[in-house]
Amino acid sequence: MDYLEIEGGSPLCGEVRIQGSKNAVLPILCAALQSPGVTVLENCPDISDVGAMLELLKGYGCRMRREGSRLVIDAGELHPGRASEAYAGTMRSSIMLLGSLLARFGEACLPYPGGCVIGERPIDLHLQALRQLGAELQEGPEGLRAVCAHPCGARICLPFPSVGATENVVLLAARAEGVTVLQNAAREPEIVELCRFLNCMGARIEGAGTGTIRIRGVERLHEARYRIMPDRIVAGTYMLLSAAAGGKVILKEVPLGQLRAVRQVLKQMGVRQESRGEELCLWCPGRSRGGFAVCTSPYPGFPTDLQSPLMAALCLADGESVIEERIFEARFKTAEELAKMGADIRIQGARAEICGVKKLLGCSLKAWELRGGAALCIAAAAAEGTSRIFQYHYIARGYENIIRDLKDMGVVVH
Ligand code: UD1
Repeated sequence: MDYLEIEGGSPLCGEVRIQGSKNAVLPILCAALQSPGVTVLENCPDISDVGAMLELLKGYGCRMRREGSRLVIDAGELHPGRASEAYAGTMRSSIMLLGSLLARFGEACLPYPGGCVIGERPIDLHLQALRQLGAELQEGPEGLRAVCAHPCGARICLPFPSVGATENVVLLAARAEGVTVLQNAAREPEIVELCRFLNCMGARIEGAGTGTIRIRGVERLHEARYRIMPDRIVAGTYMLLSAAAGGKVILKEVPLGQLRAVRQVLKQMGVRQESRGEELCLWCPGRSRGGFAVCTSPYPGFPTDLQSPLMAALCLADGESVIEERIFEARFKTAEELAKMGADIRIQGARAEICGVKKLLGCSLKAWELRGGAALCIAAAAAEGTSRIFQYHYIARGYENIIRDLKDMGVVVH
């Protein structure tokens, strides 16, 4: 069944443990290709993007097994080949294989990456940076062909702190000869996580989490065991759900330090927050407050991945709020679905004005992309009546089991 049915209107009550991070595990899986041994990843989320990445890795000869949330990957006997278009085309992160394949084989052949329909997603920054490390790249109608017999360290300055381009540089530079200094690097926690993992494999990377990353290339990387951090976007989604649906909820294993911008917004919305260790208790006694402006921006700013969930929550918050989307220009498709429920949203270019309404009404909705789909779950849980959200498979790309999680928070889901 590719839909879920939510009966809205009940305030939240319950608790949920936050799953492992999607955006951290995907580049780490690419990095695992570089070890000629066995990689063990704990807390690996069971989501369809991970499934697709594992299929891609199998195509290169990786063997793997899952033991609950533990994933064991044996990359001992690999062969270069062409990644399956069926899987590479479903996700943006397949491009991250490029750096690792070049590091391991000196060559790579990849179909163009796919991903969510949230605007133009060029790969020029990835290609430019990899060329600076010595890669020769050809873009053909079928995809990319790349050769890099001797990757060499370089001084690279990214025109924009792209998360994916930063990850690709780090993945290849870890094995390049000499030192790479990457300036204007992305500072997202997922970059820190990838560099920590690579360092566990024997890489020598410093400065992750700052704008300048310094990578001293090493000859080989070895096997490693690593625990994937919790997913800040999943945590943020459920935090915004609490602002929309009200009630009281406890989130466990929350990466609180990574969610400062989101917590600030929740505070403005009037949601009470109490934290103890990695636990966050949220309580929204009445209607939440809007009437402020939020811009998405690179970390540590408000994450673009939580823009649609925030929009859904603001639909029911008092006052007129503004969201400016500064990362992906076409990320407002969810507004059309929210409008079907009675939301009052005006879009002008990269700006959305959201006027809080008294109520949303449940109806038939379509998820068009991952985070937009999660936003519809928030709206449906807070709406009056029943909603059906079709194209559930988009949500399953990043949420391990949103149905279980919603039920655990007291939402009625069929
Ligand atoms: C990653 C995340 C995604 C998140 C995004 C921004 C993963 C698997 N995905 O995506 O969830 O929304 O960061 O935080 O980690 N750009 C170019 N040329 C390039 C690369 C990017 O112009 O070569 C532009 C993009 O079109 C976009 C902006 O840079 O406008 C940000 O993209 P980037 O940071 O690269 O995001 P992703 O790595 O694709």
